[in-house]
Amino acid sequence: MTEPDYPIRTERLLLRPLRHADREDLVAYRSIPDVCRYVPFSPQSLTDIDRNLAGQWATTALPEEPRSNLTLGVELDGRVIGDVILMRPADPEGTAEIGYVFAPDVAGRGYATEACRPLLALAFEELGVHRVMGRLDARNGASARVLERLGMRLEAHFVEDDWFKGEWTSTLVYAMLDREWRAGRPSLDSPTSR
Ligand SMILES: CC(C)(COP(=O)(O)OP(=O)(O)OC[C@H]1O[C@@H](n2cnc3c(N)ncnc32)[C@H](O)[C@@H]1OP(=O)(O)O)[C@@H](O)C(=O)NCCC(=O)NCCS
Repeated sequence: MTEPDYPIRTERLLLRPLRHADREDLVAYRSIPDVCRYVPFSPQSLTDIDRNLAGQWATTALPEEPRSNLTLGVELDGRVIGDVILMRPADPEGTAEIGYVFAPDVAGRGYATEACRPLLALAFEELGVHRVMGRLDARNGASARVLERLGMRLEAHFVEDDWFKGEWTSTLVYAMLDREWRAGRPSLDSPTSR
C-alpha cells in the first residue's frame, strides 16, 4: 500500500480523499454533459456519486495490485473543484496513468495542472514507476495543454482507434519518464533519453 500524508498541499490547493460531504460539489460538475464529453463516464447523478464514494473512491491508499487506482478530491477554499486519479501500471515495469476532471467555473486558472504535479510526484517518487502517461481524445485540447504544461511529451496520435460514446475517436498519448521528472523538464531528443 502507498498512502500519502493528507492533505497534500500545493500552492493554492489541497488534495485529499473524497468523503460523503463532497457529494454536492462532485455532482455539480460531474453531472454536466460537456464535462463528461471526453471521459469514460456519462453525466452522473447523486446516486452515481454515492456509489463511487462508497466504492472506488473510498480507498485512501494505492493498493499493490496492478491497475489499482487512487482518486483524490481537489479542494479550494473548502470546496471540491475537481478530482484527479492515479492508476498503477498493469505490471511492475509498466506505465502509470493520470486523469483529471474539473468544474468548468474554475477553468483557465491552472488548477488542473497544479493538482496533477503531486500525482506525478507520487508515481515517480513513491511508486517508483519508470513512466507515466496521459491518454485523451484528440479533440480535447484543454486536456492536451494540461499534459504539455506538466512537461509531458506527445508520443502517439492513434487515428480512430476507439469506438467511444457512439463514434470512432482518435487518441493522443502523452508521457514522461522518471529521469525527465527528476530533471524537471522533458528531454525530447536527447541521446541519453533512450
Ligand atoms: C481538462 C481540464 C481539466 C482542463 O482544464 P483547464 O482549466 O484548461 O486546465 P488548468 O486548470 O490547468 O488551467 C490551464 C489554463 O489556465 C491558464 N492559467 C491561468 N493561470 C494559470 C496558472 N497560474 N498556471 C497555469 N495555467 C494558468 C492557462 O494558460 C491555461 O489556459 P489555456 O489552456 O487556454 O492556455 C478541463 O477542461 C476538464 O475538466 N474537462 C472535462 C474533463 C476532461 O476532459 N478531463 C480530461 C480527460 S483526458
